Amino acid sequence: MTETMLKINTLHQLSQAPEPFTPGEPLFWDDPHISKMMLDAHLNPETEAASRPPEIIDAIVDWLITALDLEPGAAWLDMGCGPGLYTSRLARRGLSVTGSVTGIDYSRRSIAYAQDYAAEHNLTIEYRYQNYLTLEDTARYDVVSLIYGDFCPLSPENRASLLARVHRALKPGGRFVLDVTTPVLRARWQSSPRWDALPEGGFWKPGPHLVLERGFAYPDDVYVNQYIVIEPDGTQTVYRNWFQDYTPERITDEITAGGFAVSALWGDLTGTPYTAESDWIAIVAARAWPDHRAGVNHKVRPCLSPAHLFRVGLHHPFR
Ligand SMILES: C[S@@+](CC[C@H](N)C(=O)[O-])C[C@H]1O[C@@H](n2cnc3c(N)ncnc32)[C@H](O)[C@@H]1O
Repeated sequence: MTETMLKINTLHQLSQAPEPFTPGEPLFWDDPHISKMMLDAHLNPETEAASRPPEIIDAIVDWLITALDLEPGAAWLDMGCGPGLYTSRLARRGLSVTGSVTGIDYSRRSIAYAQDYAAEHNLTIEYRYQNYLTLEDTARYDVVSLIYGDFCPLSPENRASLLARVHRALKPGGRFVLDVTTPVLRARWQSSPRWDALPEGGFWKPGPHLVLERGFAYPDDVYVNQYIVIEPDGTQTVYRNWFQDYTPERITDEITAGGFAVSALWGDLTGTPYTAESDWIAIVAARAWPDHRAGVNHKVRPCLSPAHLFRVGLHHPFR
């Protein structure tokens, strides 16, 4: 009886809106079961749960290669590369012959798949199982990419830390390419409270479990999808997917504060123009040189304001 009461109390506490960016269960991407479900989703062309459909990835790679106009010998790092859907295409386009292609991901299963795939198809790609929040590479890459909204789940502190790490990892003038979600997308992707009983197992657990799902919206375009997973022995695990959605002004300010100059902004990474109805914002930002972050040095380099980008930058080439 007491134990039941305690668990219901825990459940009650877990069901409240958490403080913004309170982490959920840390073992998510690398969880043996969840990572298998994620890999299946990455490789299933019918679902956009983990990656975009293959024809869109083709279009993104085509667009980026043309628009970035890379010099021979360019080095590209894809952070959160998953099973290597982008890195494989980049290598096939010859990038790893004259230059290099590197992918890092925090899922052992995805990295193992990507390594096997590269070996089987004779693609030279360096894959590393690594948390990109620990990236230590210095002045090594011409391009660093972070694709499919992976900047958005990070807390403000982790976003600032990641920007600093990407800044250090890029060669001077190197470009950071990312896409982030907008409040327009969130208005459609908010989850109503729901529960599911899964006797045969499901996304979160291989065995029977119950999922209580609820979303909470916060000021400044922050949102969380929270999943409380209850197993037959009463174990309760909470998973949280946080999102910081962006306006062009917000992402430009944040990226600029990280020492980058935003060169261009689109509605997606295939070069579709951004409009107020866009679900996504795609950004290409150059590592500013000399470094103009506050306190780094005093040679302030003028940056384009968001208003200026709207007027002139929407279809700009990357540099
Ligand atoms: C939504 S998926 C997108 C994968 C890939 N960018 C794509 O579009 O196909 C996010 C990926 O980032 C990886 N990931 C998440 N957080 C990470 C971290 N801190 N360090 C490294 N990889 C991470 C996950 O394992 C997963 O493969």
